[in-house]
Amino acid sequence: MSRRIRLGMVGGGEGSFIGAAHRVAARLDDEYELVAAALSSDAARAQSSGAKLHLAPQRCYENYAAMAQAEGARSDGIDVVAIVTPNHLHVPVARAFLEQGIHVICDKPLGISVAEVEDLRRQVQSSGLMLMVTHTYSAYPMVRHARALVQQGAIGDVRVVQVEYAQDWLSEPLELTGQKQAAWRSNPALAGPAGALGDIGTHAFHLAEFVTGLRTEAVCAGLSTFVPGRTLDDDVQVMLRFQGGARGMLWASQVAVGNSNRLQLRVYGSQGGLHFDHAKQDQLLFSKLGAAEQTIYRGSTAANSSAAAATRLPCGHPEGYFEAFANLYREFAASWRQYQLGSSQTGNYPDIADGCRGVAFIDSTLKSSASGGHWVAL
Ligand SMILES: NC(=O)c1ccc[n+]([C@@H]2O[C@H](COP(=O)([O-])OP(=O)(O)OC[C@H]3O[C@@H](n4cnc5c(N)ncnc54)[C@H](O)[C@@H]3O)[C@@H](O)[C@H]2O)c1
Repeated sequence: MSRRIRLGMVGGGEGSFIGAAHRVAARLDDEYELVAAALSSDAARAQSSGAKLHLAPQRCYENYAAMAQAEGARSDGIDVVAIVTPNHLHVPVARAFLEQGIHVICDKPLGISVAEVEDLRRQVQSSGLMLMVTHTYSAYPMVRHARALVQQGAIGDVRVVQVEYAQDWLSEPLELTGQKQAAWRSNPALAGPAGALGDIGTHAFHLAEFVTGLRTEAVCAGLSTFVPGRTLDDDVQVMLRFQGGARGMLWASQVAVGNSNRLQLRVYGSQGGLHFDHAKQDQLLFSKLGAAEQTIYRGSTAANSSAAAATRLPCGHPEGYFEAFANLYREFAASWRQYQLGSSQTGNYPDIADGCRGVAFIDSTLKSSASGGHWVAL
């Protein structure tokens, strides 16, 4: 008889941000049940946070190492752990759970150095377990539509890619006020060597490669830190060279006043162009050379089967961030069920290779910027 997947969570306690989105995503399609967690680095907060989520007290752990050991030893232990801590913990936590035979869902960036994520890749491969990285934006229906159009040749050969992720919440030194999310993101010991680059640049990078199906061969970058006293970058501008000759530009900024979460992707090919704007995520603009621009709506008859598979509500009823997150969780669940039947097929979700690529992108971009803007291979 089929059953819900037993989910555990590390991070995501009271006052945190993305853990709650993971929990909503896990519930949306009735595939998962949260049964255990180490929700905070503070033991009392871990317990109180667990109580609010109605977890059994004995399965609210003081730290992730104890949780991995105990859950690995239970006959009804968790099947999958979701890691929603600051970046420096992603790899150590993932490793602890993989060692116990537990699959991993990890937020981005996958880690803070190429060496540690490559070690993790080897562990994932030798264990045969599954690892998903939650690049949420790749799961929006109209992003899936765009990817399918490129795959079908609807815009011809890709020539130009423009991607940007602009925010403004770090326009002032918010990290000095004690704001938790800003504090760890501005601390290299917790965030890793990249600021805006790692936090949102990796999302933009993944989106560009996901939709075009092209791999970036080299980057030429300039990082800036505009807010005085800040250690990490708050703005990054990158030129991209793709395989096959396509060229691109990526801009990620957390000091772009007037932008909350403005993620946009434009792709131009020899026969057409595409424009996805996260602020209008129900729509995709599609232009065919010589014809008028079309607006394709999610949930409409014009949406293709890739978009339809990622859609829950009819056209006109708003869907958004939680649903995109849930698409990833649903796809991971489908793979987990296949895995139980002995299949090692990976699903449509970002996996260990995507996670390692994001960290390689950070590394090459940092090297390029430090060199004064030389091209650096990925
Ligand atoms: N996929 C996305 O779109 C998206 C969006 C936002 C954040 N993120 C990523 O999610 C992660 C968390 O970001 P956030 O904004 O939610 O941060 P946050 O500061 O709001 O939450 C971090 C949580 O981790 C907990 N934590 C810290 N150390 C811990 C430990 N040793 N053991 C257990 N828990 C511990 C904290 O107590 C807190 O509950 C980051 O890696 C970030 O890059 C991804």
